[in-house]
Amino acid sequence: MPKLIIHGGLPLCGEARISGAKNAALPVLCAALLTSDTLHIKNVPQLQDVSTMLSLLEQMGVKISVNNSSQVELTTLNLANPVAPYEMVKTMRAAILLLGPLLARTGEANISLPGGCAIGLRPVDQHIKGLQAMGAEISIKHGYIHAVANQLQGTRIVMDMVTVTGTENLMMAATLAKGTTILENAAREPEIIDLANCLNSMGAKISGAGNDIITIEGVKSLHGAQHTVMPDRIETGTFLVAGVATRGEIHLKNTSPYLLESVLGKLIETGANIESGENWINVKMNRRPKSINLRTAPYPAFPTDMQAQFMSLNCVADGTAMITETIFENRLMHVQELKRMNADIEVEGHTAIVRGIEQLDGANVMATDLRASACLVIAGLIARGDTVIDRIYHLDRGYECIEDKLSNLGAKIMRIN
Ligand code: EPU
Repeated sequence: MPKLIIHGGLPLCGEARISGAKNAALPVLCAALLTSDTLHIKNVPQLQDVSTMLSLLEQMGVKISVNNSSQVELTTLNLANPVAPYEMVKTMRAAILLLGPLLARTGEANISLPGGCAIGLRPVDQHIKGLQAMGAEISIKHGYIHAVANQLQGTRIVMDMVTVTGTENLMMAATLAKGTTILENAAREPEIIDLANCLNSMGAKISGAGNDIITIEGVKSLHGAQHTVMPDRIETGTFLVAGVATRGEIHLKNTSPYLLESVLGKLIETGANIESGENWINVKMNRRPKSINLRTAPYPAFPTDMQAQFMSLNCVADGTAMITETIFENRLMHVQELKRMNADIEVEGHTAIVRGIEQLDGANVMATDLRASACLVIAGLIARGDTVIDRIYHLDRGYECIEDKLSNLGAKIMRIN
């Protein structure tokens, strides 16, 4: 199994280009199921999760052409096989995003239940409840969600909790429903706005995306369109944290400061100097960062997908920080790996108390999920000596060309098999 070796202690300096957002690209790819015309998507990141989603769509009958590495065209004339099989779904939970569009377009969907994953149980009850409210008949058989509906009906849906893919699934399904759907307690993440923009350019009538009430007026059919995926705000935040932790200076292109204001606010609290323009962010740090407390919550609050990276930063910061995870019940697994690098962390319930030390020590560590792997990369970059990270396939799910991007910034990082 491939591993990463990082020789730490070097400041990251230079320029990097941020890729398209994984969590925006995945739902937009699924939106191609809603029309028989071609959907042209630009700025698609080359990631393991994107390849898995393309394979899932292809085996259902979607015609796919990848024009250059970041442009994809999808045409869904016929859907021969509206099934997402277990073998593919087990590697990527986002496959649940196929449920809403498949049902709306073909009247049937059969999606393997995603099951639990390392960071938590992650049920999909809100997706199912919402589609049932729209008239779908849903049963769980042999580990599959089987949904049928002749014609989905618009309705008012109040979600029990804020769910990102839940909101996206229902929004996609509602585009072709009869009548108007109102989603209340909807997620407000920028990826929801990106998906709504794509759907509206395909002829959907969605208003309110980015607020907690989204209104979708159903239409008879959607047509082809062109869409450019938004920049990845989590990749952006990860590079910014790496810049601050290594006390370097990084200029990030093709991103936007408006996508991650809570993260930028926390970086400023560490003492970092941040400058930004419409589509770039510059971070500079020339001293030991101050430790910062944080608590994850739905957008626009601090994102759970940035919690692990800030943990590495706090490990070497001046002071003691409290990091509380409120979204997923088991997303502190990187703590035990950081402790192998000599970090001083205690966990009480869903809170980690991180006492900053001068420097981490390189060690053999294991990535447990995507963002935990990013946290270990940052820890490796600031540690004394070599860090060897195992199970690096987690990183490949969400970071495009990360070794090349970090090497260009002066990191000593190498993949070995
Ligand atoms: N939840 C339920 N029932 C549901 C849906 C969600 O109980 O029907 C719970 C979850 O178990 C969790 C909370 O609600 O405790 C929020 O989960 P959400 O549904 O918002 O998460 P998600 O849509 O499955 C997306 C991202 C995640 C990101 C979360 C939170 C995609 C493809 N995935 O997941 O991204 O952490 O939102 O922002 O958009 C990652 O990129 O590393 C990643 C895990």
